[in-house]
Amino acid sequence: MTTSNLETVLSAEDVRKSFRVGEREIEVLHGAHLELRARERLCLMGASGAGKSTFLHVLGLLEQPTEGRVQLQGKSAWELAMSERAALRNRHIGFVFQAYHLLPDLSALENITLPARIAHSYGTVPFDKKLHTSEARDMLERFGLKDRINHRPNQLSGGERQRVAIARALILKPEIVIADEPTGNLDTATGDKVLEILFNEQSRRNASLLLVTHDERLAKSCDRVLVMVDGQIEADSEVMIPQ
Ligand SMILES: Nc1ncnc2c1ncn2[C@@H]1O[C@H](COP(=O)(O)OP(=O)(O)OP(=O)(O)O)[C@@H](O)[C@H]1O
Ligand SMILES: [Mg+2]
Repeated sequence: MTTSNLETVLSAEDVRKSFRVGEREIEVLHGAHLELRARERLCLMGASGAGKSTFLHVLGLLEQPTEGRVQLQGKSAWELAMSERAALRNRHIGFVFQAYHLLPDLSALENITLPARIAHSYGTVPFDKKLHTSEARDMLERFGLKDRINHRPNQLSGGERQRVAIARALILKPEIVIADEPTGNLDTATGDKVLEILFNEQSRRNASLLLVTHDERLAKSCDRVLVMVDGQIEADSEVMIPQ
């Protein structure tokens, strides 16, 4: 897919992020930028410690940058009030973590429908128990988890947990899915199955996917690849993958 003519759905400009560690302030992102375009699959690579997860958290509106802007839905998201930003994130971004981050006391089904309940509390999307439960069930069925609906996370394998986490990220039909090494904790065969599910869902929903991975093979199945080096997107690192 040639993506340069597609509209931008999420962008970061000159993002800086520092962490205070003891007495010291350590800058991890030094002016990172990125544009995610409609329907594309964008891969972000780079050495461990380069700042990929930190950048994804800023882009996913989970972690505030020290400086810089993130644009989503025509808004400078980090300049909004916290509740407005949370509602924007909840509605438009699905985030998949390497370590799943499911809530241990909720069943697979309850974990998946949780963002819909939260959206209801923000007043953005009414929680329709029947509809959202049926959509969650449909996804569990498509993902091969029909018999795991009432399982808690600790009763699921890693690959099953990640499939539940993907369904949770997708329940509100976000146009942006951000995944930070979604197969990083899985063996190759299980990881391949999880990716197939993620890619299939992205296609059927026409969503944009921003994916961090260390896997060159996986990067080859993306539309574009960017490389992060020491807290910046390396100039000239954009690689278009011939399909
Ligand atoms: N909360 C924090 N406090 C202090 N330093 C942090 C914090 N989070 C991240 N860092 C530092 O920021 C740098 C970048 O971390 P980050 O997790 O973004 O790297 P990464 O590119 O995702 O690496 P990996 O490929 O291993 O996941 C690291 O040096 C890390 O120690
Ligand atoms: Mg990381």
